[in-house]
Amino acid sequence: MNLNENYEKLEESYLFSTVAKKVKAYSETNPDKKIIKLGIGDVTKPLCEAVIDAMHKAVDEMSVQETFRGYGPEQGYGFLRGAIKEYYSKRGIEFGIEEIFISDGAKSDLGNILDLFSINNTVLVPDPVYPVYVDTNIMAGRKVIYIDANGENEFLPMPNKEQKADLIYICSPNNPTGAVYNRNQLKEWVDYARSMDAIILFDSAYECFISDSNLPRSIYEIEGAKSCAIEFCSFSKMAGFTGTRCGYTVIPNELGKLNRMWLRRQSTKFNGVPYVVQRGAEAVFTEVGQKEIYENINYYKENAKIISDTLKDCNIWHVGGKHSPYIWLKCPNNMKSWEFFDYLLENAQVVGTPGAGFGKNGEGYFRLTSFGSRENTIEAMGRFVKLFK
Ligand code: MLT
Repeated sequence: MNLNENYEKLEESYLFSTVAKKVKAYSETNPDKKIIKLGIGDVTKPLCEAVIDAMHKAVDEMSVQETFRGYGPEQGYGFLRGAIKEYYSKRGIEFGIEEIFISDGAKSDLGNILDLFSINNTVLVPDPVYPVYVDTNIMAGRKVIYIDANGENEFLPMPNKEQKADLIYICSPNNPTGAVYNRNQLKEWVDYARSMDAIILFDSAYECFISDSNLPRSIYEIEGAKSCAIEFCSFSKMAGFTGTRCGYTVIPNELGKLNRMWLRRQSTKFNGVPYVVQRGAEAVFTEVGQKEIYENINYYKENAKIISDTLKDCNIWHVGGKHSPYIWLKCPNNMKSWEFFDYLLENAQVVGTPGAGFGKNGEGYFRLTSFGSRENTIEAMGRFVKLFK
């Protein structure tokens, strides 16, 4: 028996687990302090009424012999895939439902998709980046190369034609920086991928936060993308499903074998998302569902504005928060990321995510999320003013 030694190359624990461990230790020694968590991007608003109604109805169906359901299709029920097909179609992007796969979230699929690719592939990721892209490839033993995202390129690195890559990760709006690629920039990435027969793994988990209609919300808005990109999306941030778990992945037929390989992989290793959850997800795309989810998204966007206004007031450099729930700031007084994490926890009992946890270029930066409650966001920002103004 030999262990997978690639695990030795990983950080000791996953970024958000390390943060949670530190916060737990602090709260155990300071039980009287109120800690405000603006670290992991976890939503706080309850599921909207349209979703809850649909789930209740589905639960009732499960209690009746005639409407009870056992195993569902591994790739998802037709009703939800149809609703997603329609969601794309409204934006002028056409897919057949066989190109859409329902998952238990973008995180799982972003990791699982690697089953389809040889470990000899070279993987290109921006730095800083959502740690799942890097960790899942390290676990498999793939070579990871980085492209710098920094203040100079406004955290939107562009392809270097000299650099050879087989798999390319793009997250736009970006986690952690909140930066969003425009159409011309994404077109350059698509052209680059096509020129080297690479695949773009496009994470669009935050697309609903884009409020400028000129900015692309899907890679498939870009000509040629169907022949070089897989898109991953999630109901987590769009509709508050972080605990409920549902997402979808689009693998266009133009990618040849990949669509069939993914179906083969999913039908072997995955048994689908619960019927009740898929009915809830379907309701997100109804007229009422859309209205209700945007009430929540706008609530979070207002929180982001409160954070951004406070940071401005405190003269703290930051970006993001406009088309994204994340605000990416430069740690005050040249502190390092983890140093600032400890400082903020000890002096303001506010939790954020250290930029260094997203890559070397994140050092000296810090991420705050707008997914907290309004009350907590205002209170946390009051504590910032006391410390930094
Ligand atoms: C984050 O905070 O970066 C996200 O919540 C992580 C995730 O979606 O898995």
